[in-house]
Amino acid sequence: MSNVTVCARFRPRSSKEFRDHNDGVCVRGIDAETFVFQDDKEDELTFSLDRVFYEESPQAAVYEFLALPIMRDAVNAINGTIITYGQTGAGKTYSMEGPGIQDCDEHNKGLLQRVVDGMFAQISSLQDIARYTVKLSMPSLSINEFISNSLRDLLDLSKGNIQIKETKTQGILLSGVTEVPVSDSAEALQHLCTGLANRAVGETQMNMSSSRSHCAYFLTIQQDSVKDKRVKTGKLILVDLAGSEKADKTGAEGRVLEEAKTINKSLSALGNVINALTSGSPSKASHIPYRDSKLTRVLQDALGGNSRMALLCCCSPSTSNASETLSTLRFGMRAKHIKASPRASEVKFAKSQEEPSSATKDEKCGRILEKMKERISNEDIKMLEEVFIHEGIISSLDSVEDVESAYEDIVSKTIQSLQQAIEELQLKVQKLETENKGIQEQALRNQEPGPVGKMSRFISSWYASFFTS
Ligand SMILES: Nc1ncnc2c1ncn2[C@@H]1O[C@H](COP(=O)(O)OP(=O)(O)OP(=O)(O)O)[C@@H](O)[C@H]1O
Ligand SMILES: [Mg+2]
Repeated sequence: MSNVTVCARFRPRSSKEFRDHNDGVCVRGIDAETFVFQDDKEDELTFSLDRVFYEESPQAAVYEFLALPIMRDAVNAINGTIITYGQTGAGKTYSMEGPGIQDCDEHNKGLLQRVVDGMFAQISSLQDIARYTVKLSMPSLSINEFISNSLRDLLDLSKGNIQIKETKTQGILLSGVTEVPVSDSAEALQHLCTGLANRAVGETQMNMSSSRSHCAYFLTIQQDSVKDKRVKTGKLILVDLAGSEKADKTGAEGRVLEEAKTINKSLSALGNVINALTSGSPSKASHIPYRDSKLTRVLQDALGGNSRMALLCCCSPSTSNASETLSTLRFGMRAKHIKASPRASEVKFAKSQEEPSSATKDEKCGRILEKMKERISNEDIKMLEEVFIHEGIISSLDSVEDVESAYEDIVSKTIQSLQQAIEELQLKVQKLETENKGIQEQALRNQEPGPVGKMSRFISSWYASFFTS
């Protein structure tokens, strides 16, 4: 078990922070791992993380500490995920892309360009040992799509809603997402540029190029061993989250305000998953609410298990953002306690090295489909999947979305019919109450006779007493 690597990065103060708040800072560095944070009430809290990058820290330092080891492992078929998290305008996209994905100098290059460069450099040094194929995909949870609850493919916007599937053998899969083969850094950057141009951006007062979407960069690195024909695959995911924001501070209103609420909601879902993963006794399997948002669903494997993970908590050092910085740091401290068990994935495809027969038919088909995916298009794979299910070769590689929506359907239908039954019951109760009231009144009237009845009763009793006396 290893822990998640958690680092904090404090960006340089912005001109607005200088102008509005002089040079007040809420952070005092102690060393490369520890700093003192001063909150709104001037109370001091000491934080210790795996590494702290202060205002002057170069992009290369962040890459070398945070991303390089994970990239190296991914080339060796150990999955890895790198996430930038923090308040809007805190430096997440800057850390990921630098000032621009293509037009930035060596010094300013972000994690993305450095990871791609480093990965191809490592691959070329291993050419004698294995043949590598790298594929890139860029799913994005943009805000408009959040509302209609869909996941977008930034490399092909014509694909509407990317389905999330879960299989026993491969975990979470994004069915039908475009995976472009990339053979060198330049080609990868070209595709990244196309994808990023499609990423939704809006404007807030706080950050004029604010990311209004959570964007993930998936690099799937497959190695075919020259010696023994084994195939291994490592998945490297870089995630640039959209930033949380306080509407009153950023001046967000209308559509932008709605977007901010949606972003905050999905980030809360991420926080809830991390809380669930890090609280409770490890022996007790507790419920982890991955399904509460698409973001946590896409990151399920990275958060919950077979993946190395690094989190960069991006913060403003200005006193004006102290409360947001504190909440980002608390998020990071919590994530530090997630336990991960990354291990190399491996598929053997030589006949003598087939998987043990204990694998189910569905699992085997899943593996065959995955293998074929490397050679033929996703559409063909989808068709094959349907044919397999239709012919009864596999039961179903169920789409989680389908199951979820069917479940929601049944739940809402049940609720509807229950509500109808309650309404009918209420009407019946009302009717019965009215009838009951009428009967009671009638009974009372029968018990208490009118003046004529009273007189006749008096006469008959007088008459009786007269004859008996
Ligand atoms: N380490 C840094 N060095 C220099 N400038 C930085 C640094 N970090 C951030 N900036 C600048 O701060 C501004 C906001 O950064 P960025 O766009 O990365 O924020 P963000 O966290 O991605 O915000 P959002 O959540 O709104 O997308 C940008 O102008 C960026 O260039
Ligand atoms: Mg951003």
